[in-house]
Amino acid sequence: MVMVRIGLVGLGFMGQQHFTIYDDLEDAEVVAVCDKIPERVAETAPSIGGNIGDATELDLSAQARYVCFDEMLDAEELDCVDICTPTHLHAEMTVAALEAGNHAICEKPMARTLAECDRMIAAAEGAGGLLFIAQCIRFWPEYEVLASMIEGGELGEVKWARFVRQSPPPGWASEGWLMDPALSGGALLDLHIHDVDLILSVFGTPGAVMSRAMNMGGRSRPHSEGTAVDHVETGYLYDDLVCTAQGGWAMPDSFAFEMGFQVLGTEGLLEFSLAKDPMLQFYPFDGEPRTPEYEPGTGYENELAYFVSCIEQGQAPERVTPHSARESVRIVMAEADSIASGEMVVIG
Ligand SMILES: NC(=O)c1ccc[n+]([C@@H]2O[C@H](COP(=O)([O-])OP(=O)(O)OC[C@H]3O[C@@H](n4cnc5c(N)ncnc54)[C@H](O)[C@@H]3O)[C@@H](O)[C@H]2O)c1
Repeated sequence: MVMVRIGLVGLGFMGQQHFTIYDDLEDAEVVAVCDKIPERVAETAPSIGGNIGDATELDLSAQARYVCFDEMLDAEELDCVDICTPTHLHAEMTVAALEAGNHAICEKPMARTLAECDRMIAAAEGAGGLLFIAQCIRFWPEYEVLASMIEGGELGEVKWARFVRQSPPPGWASEGWLMDPALSGGALLDLHIHDVDLILSVFGTPGAVMSRAMNMGGRSRPHSEGTAVDHVETGYLYDDLVCTAQGGWAMPDSFAFEMGFQVLGTEGLLEFSLAKDPMLQFYPFDGEPRTPEYEPGTGYENELAYFVSCIEQGQAPERVTPHSARESVRIVMAEADSIASGEMVVIG
């Protein structure tokens, strides 16, 4: 068995999730960790919770520990660098990791701008490393059921689809970076992109988008630049399908994180909601409601296991290609244009 040696940078909410998952994988090992906050790479690192998943203290006694990313890259013999830092750092760290001869996994969204996405793609092509963007919803079990029921025809012809993702403002972010749209792209690029990416993967690129948005002004944050989008509602124009997504982080702090969908085809409705029990239910036009058979879990485990197996086999990841992750950023940017202009934006 091959053991994939990983260097993990950014030990906040998402980096800690990744660390714990690698710990359970037989064919991957985190050999080095890096965070600019020294406490987060102490032998025992404090737990950082986010909007989903369990959080625990980390035992980092077996890892080489760094506060400087370049030092980790220089000193360690790695197969893969896992980048879980704030979004404005994705491009420079991914490019550096690839150019140092590693494979790279980078958290979503791919980058803050399309130009940065292009630099990442060029670096992977130039250096020959594999690049994977962690668009976890494509690996999230309930969304995998949706994709397979569409693909396999069990939903029939899909007529209507509605996606939702909403939460309170994410208070865990180090130095409040998520609240600064210059660094994170706001709720549009950070949170809503999950549904955009899923929509593109199952329905393809829409002909146009029409978006409306709101922000909550002073409640959630000071902004360093521009107008933040705290909540967006978008219509995606397809020929034979009515499709909308809404999402953001405008909810009161007491509101539990919600994600879900309702997708109606000629054979019935598939509904998923974190707030329902059962969370996933198929309502056929013909027959009783039932929960499809599937393995519950999170997309985080599934996506990391998938990319580790791509590395082992020397196969470029097909389930999320860098170009498809860039396409999700492009559609989010079109939504931002629609919000700014108040007009529908045709997708070229
Ligand atoms: N897939 C998902 O569901 C999901 C959920 C949350 C966040 N994310 C993504 O994961 C990434 C990280 O988000 P987060 O919520 O974990 O943020 P976070 O603030 O909790 O963690 C970021 C970590 O990066 C560290 N860091 C910042 N600059 C650094 C540098 N120069 N060198 C080393 N370390 C540095 C910070 O100290 C912090 O520990 C973001 O791109 C975010 O969009 C994905």
